[in-house]
Amino acid sequence: MKDYKKLLMANKAWAKERLEVDEDYFTDLAKDQKPQFLWIGCADSRVPAEEVINTQPGEVFVHRNVANLVVHTDINLLSVLQYAVEVLKVKHVIVCGHYGCGGVKAAMGNSDLGLINKWLRNIKEVYDKHNYELKNVSDEHLRFDRLVELNVEEQVKNLAKTSIIQRAWINHELPHLHGWVFDMKTGLIKEIMNIESNSVVDDIFKYDFHTVELISNSSIH
Ligand code: CO
Repeated sequence: MKDYKKLLMANKAWAKERLEVDEDYFTDLAKDQKPQFLWIGCADSRVPAEEVINTQPGEVFVHRNVANLVVHTDINLLSVLQYAVEVLKVKHVIVCGHYGCGGVKAAMGNSDLGLINKWLRNIKEVYDKHNYELKNVSDEHLRFDRLVELNVEEQVKNLAKTSIIQRAWINHELPHLHGWVFDMKTGLIKEIMNIESNSVVDDIFKYDFHTVELISNSSIH
C-alpha cells in the first residue's frame, strides 16, 4: 500500500473510535474553539505539540516553524499571534523548543544552506548576543543545549516586544508568556522562563499606544 494511504485509513479508524465513545463528538467539535493556549513550536516531527502535553482537539492553538522562532516581520506568525490573543483570548503563549534542534545546530555551523540561511540568521543573532556565555562552554553538546535554551528565551522576549502582546496586556491583562524546552530523550519538558502579563518592557521596545493615537489625530486635523 502506498504510504500516504495508511494515513487516510488511520483517519477513518480514528474518527470511528471517537464516535464510539461519544456520538456527538464531531458535532460538538465543529461548533466552536476556545483554546486557552497558543503553542509556538518547532516543525520537527518528533515534537508533536498536542501529543507531548496530552491535549485534545480544541485545547491548543498551534503555530510551528523551523526552530520555533518569533520573527517580528513574519506575517504568518504575527497573524496567528494576533488571532490567538485578540479573538481567541488565549491565557498563555508558550514557545517550546527542543534539545537536538536541527535548526539551532545548523545556525551554529558555517555551511551555506541556501534560502534557510536567512531564517537561521535569527538564531545566529541569539548566538552573537550570548557569545560571552557560550564561548565559555567548552563542551560542544552542552553549548548546543544552552543555545537551544537561550533561543527559546529570546523568542519569548520577542513576543513581549510586539504591539500585539503589549496591547493585550493593557486591554485584558493576558496572556502570560512561557519558554519551554522539550527533551526527546526523556519525553519531559523543562521550564526555562516565564513573563507574567503586564511585566515591564524595555523602554526601547515599549509602545505608548496613547501617543500613537495623538499622532494619528493630529495628522487628521
Ligand atoms: Co527543531
